[in-house]
Amino acid sequence: MTRHDVTLEWPGGSTQTIEVSEDETVLEAAQRAGARLPYDCRKGTCITCVGRLTGIGDERAAADASGTEAPLDATAAFTYRRPPAALTDSERADGYVLLCIARPRADCRIEVGPRVRAEVGDSPWA
Ligand code: FES
Repeated sequence: MTRHDVTLEWPGGSTQTIEVSEDETVLEAAQRAGARLPYDCRKGTCITCVGRLTGIGDERAAADASGTEAPLDATAAFTYRRPPAALTDSERADGYVLLCIARPRADCRIEVGPRVRAEVGDSPWA
């Protein structure tokens, strides 16, 4: 079975790399590995579990002179178990991922934590 290494990046610089098989979500693999991530609905509707893609394989989001990272498109990097209703297409193109329903298609790095959640705002379904 295909597995991908997913590195979770928390504020403050701590990281944890977990193995995610092709039939499980990032959240499921994180829980199996003992990594604590926030979640609520587990259906892609509440946005609690959102993370942001910062690298795919060896590719990293590049920062410009102001330190702002150019987004990596998350659309091609994940398949979803069900429609990610809480994200717009443009948010997905900016790298945002709902970890409760997302299955990675490549090794990748994902920023997690309250800052990512604050960037996205509230779910349109809340
Ligand atoms: S836990 Fe609600 S969208 Fe993931």
